[in-house]
Amino acid sequence: MKRITLSRGLCTTRKSGVFFEALPSHGVRVLDLPEVLMTSKTISDQPDAKSMEGPFTISPRGVGEIGGALRFLLADFFALYLKTKNFHWHMRGAYFRDYHLLLDEHGEQLFEATDAIAERARKIGATTLRSAGDVTRNQRLSDNDTENVPAMVMLSELGSDNLRLASFMRETHAICDENGDLATASLLENWIDEAERRAWFLTATTATDA
Ligand SMILES: [Fe+2]
Repeated sequence: MKRITLSRGLCTTRKSGVFFEALPSHGVRVLDLPEVLMTSKTISDQPDAKSMEGPFTISPRGVGEIGGALRFLLADFFALYLKTKNFHWHMRGAYFRDYHLLLDEHGEQLFEATDAIAERARKIGATTLRSAGDVTRNQRLSDNDTENVPAMVMLSELGSDNLRLASFMRETHAICDENGDLATASLLENWIDEAERRAWFLTATTATDA
């Protein structure tokens, strides 16, 4: 639909090739094409300003707050991804195959989110991590470089890490809410659900009351 501003300040809309002019009496009048061409001063195919509203309407302060929270979150996702793969590679014991495959599935899920987190930060105008060193400087979840970690300790530690990750995401969600960033909040809701599912599988596997 094309909107045209007439020289006399009235606005007309073309619908199915016919131009209408809104009248002060709230009625409309059909215009013929020569009349439109003679009186129009602006012809634009640009969308209305309202329909152009998007993530860039987030205030500079909001971009800083959300971008900062996403930076920490991305570092945590990378740290937990690598720890999950570390335990996947070094798993040993009676249920090796089950645990090895479970952690592979969890690692894939964590890695898949990383690109979306970084790109979301860029979409709102923030920057994101640039290196492995940047991950180390921003991660809140701790690494585990210990050799020969027992299988149950691995699973229990990952369960706790995933619950902490979910709580970090809830905090980030609250920051998004405060700044009206619906899209980041929506992404976070899915990632929270995934983290809680991973935590469920891990804690159920290590339950001692079964
Ligand atoms: Fe693998």
